[in-house]
Amino acid sequence: MNISHKSTGALEKTRFEKIHSVIFKDSKEASKIIAKEIADLIIKKQKQNKNCVLGLATGSSPISVYQELVRMHKEEGLSFKNVITFNLDEYYSMDKNDINSYHHFMGTHLFNHIDIDKKNTYIPECFNNDYELCCENYESKIKSIGGVDLQLLGLGTNGHIGFNEPTSSLSSRTRVKTLTENTVANNARFFDDKEFQPSIAVTMGIGTIMDADNIILIGLGKHKSKAVADLVEGPISSFCPGSVLQNHQNVVIVLDSLAASELKLYDYYIHTEKMYLKFMC
Ligand code: F6R
Repeated sequence: MNISHKSTGALEKTRFEKIHSVIFKDSKEASKIIAKEIADLIIKKQKQNKNCVLGLATGSSPISVYQELVRMHKEEGLSFKNVITFNLDEYYSMDKNDINSYHHFMGTHLFNHIDIDKKNTYIPECFNNDYELCCENYESKIKSIGGVDLQLLGLGTNGHIGFNEPTSSLSSRTRVKTLTENTVANNARFFDDKEFQPSIAVTMGIGTIMDADNIILIGLGKHKSKAVADLVEGPISSFCPGSVLQNHQNVVIVLDSLAASELKLYDYYIHTEKMYLKFMC
């Protein structure tokens, strides 16, 4: 996968040093590059008459990526007719019509504005006692479609990916997870004072996420800098679930300069990017 400041293009397998981090001046630039990478993959798959399977995230981080994809659909004719999506997570027992549900989030920020067939958009759903079955079904559905081509991730300030909180098994599959106080507090901003805020969710597991062919993680803002440093430069540990991405063959960590600010080898990543542009493009 060749995300860089200059060229993007169809995803290609490329092995980088430990973990490939690309640092952009600001979040707008970072989001545009990611949207372009996603669009290129969709188009590449269209030319091959194949479906493009995207793993999607909610939260603040991917919103500008979705806005750019919507713009590309409206202004450049990017079609999503061959796209199948699997979202990372949803609150446990939350009605899909609830304005705080991730179903609602995805409709508002992406699905309602593009030509995707809504039947091809999957978001985990769990009610009452059927949670084991719903998790198994979600895993089977992903497998039956042939797996995820490209997984988009955000990062929790505690290092979580999806809702895989610290100490999650690094090989976990889709399951119900109790959220940490830290995550509940961080997400309180999405809920009005009187609204019920769930503290349990259903999430793809870390093993499920790691099965994706390509992964792009987006980290934006100073509040992510510690988690980003732990993920990129720390030991692989379930205490920072995102650190498992160091073991993925085709992952890019896309950061703005604030999120990258605690990286010890910041200058080295900028240098390797320059070398990449000089010799590989
Ligand atoms: C959302 C998700 C979470 C978020 C993370 C960062 O589907 O899986 O892991 O990506 O909590 O959230 P934001 O982007 O709001 O900072």
